[in-house]
Amino acid sequence: MEYKIALMPGDGIGPEIIKEARKVLDATAKVYGHTFSYEELLLGGASIDAYGEPLTEETIAKAKSADAVLMGAVGADAKTSPWYRLSPEKRPEAGLLKLRKELKLFANLRPAYLYEALKDACPVKEQFYQTGIDLMIVRELTGGLYFGERKTVVENGIAKAVDTLTYDEKEIRRIAKKAFETAVKRKKKVTSVDKANVLDSSRLWRKITEEVAADYPEVTLEHMLVDNCAMQLICNPEQFDVILTENMFGDILSDEASMLTGSIGMLPSASLNETSFGLYEPSHGSAPDIAGKGIANPIAAILSAAMLLRYSFSMEEEAKAIENAVNAVLNEGYRTSDIMSENMKKVSTGEMGDLIIEKIQ
Ligand code: NAD
Ligand code: IPM
Ligand code: MN
Repeated sequence: MEYKIALMPGDGIGPEIIKEARKVLDATAKVYGHTFSYEELLLGGASIDAYGEPLTEETIAKAKSADAVLMGAVGADAKTSPWYRLSPEKRPEAGLLKLRKELKLFANLRPAYLYEALKDACPVKEQFYQTGIDLMIVRELTGGLYFGERKTVVENGIAKAVDTLTYDEKEIRRIAKKAFETAVKRKKKVTSVDKANVLDSSRLWRKITEEVAADYPEVTLEHMLVDNCAMQLICNPEQFDVILTENMFGDILSDEASMLTGSIGMLPSASLNETSFGLYEPSHGSAPDIAGKGIANPIAAILSAAMLLRYSFSMEEEAKAIENAVNAVLNEGYRTSDIMSENMKKVSTGEMGDLIIEKIQ
């Protein structure tokens, strides 16, 4: 059987890290006897340059006909890039948001796992955790502030901008279910993060989450306010198993959680719909400050490829092989500059990819 993977390298460091992830997929396919075929598609700024818009209908159709999508990152420096002279719905990020919506990717899984070898790169001192850091953020991805009514108007000569945060119970229920299903296979705890002391949407979130919890008696449910969660992630990260939260909170908390793993360059993600189809991308952005230098950490993209094999192709062994290869390379002391520390061996983006491949072969 041939598996069709749509590749969307995107902008900035996107093409550099996707190149490495593809190399790793090819090496895995060779060892395990699979056939992966790729179709490269443009997204974000790359698509604006070619077609004048960040996501074309043709790209959506091609992504839908693939078995999974592997994406790099989109966007650039808003101060200098011409893409940001376009209206907001024509900018690179709008392409990604539309793609998530079109593909109905409501569940964004972002695992923050601190590899033993990277303890030095984690800014949280070891005294704040005993066994290790291993948590999964389940972020709602197609609702909330990102997709609510939005407008900018001038009223009585005063500019006013409006963004609305809306969730209905169906949206909350399906993402809560995803979180509980995820927790069942892990440490059986869900921390639902909200702002129920202020927001109606959070109060509904709590109510529905508790209803869903009744179907999973083996899983413990806790509620936590988002400001407290931001703090608890630093002072007691070990308490978390699955963090369930809405779109914007999940965006912010996942960048914070990425530093617990040593770098934003370590955090992969899977964006899933109700089927086995998914879009896989590192949680970081296009890193315009380091683009083109060959120094970006490709591990988040490589681990996203592992998630693709696990969630879309049911290739658990192959996914583990990639994760074990990453672990082995880190144990040998190889580091890209973002996770570099004393006495370690500094490597480029491409060298890191090659080292990981060697461990798979
Ligand atoms: P960013 O994640 O691109 O970069 C933040 C910092 O982390 C930078 O210093 C960068 O050099 C560093 N960094 C990120 N990835 C790295 C990697 N793999 N290896 C080493 N260092 C890495 O966030 P930003 O600077 O706020 O955003 C830049 C652009 O990316 C913006 O246009 C933003 O909208 C976009 N963005 C896109 C996505 C996505 O495509 N999913 C995600 C986040 C941001
Ligand atoms: C992410 C990014 C996106 C988001 C942006 C680029 C729209 O920050 O994937 O985390 O906010 O979801
Ligand atoms: Mn983000």
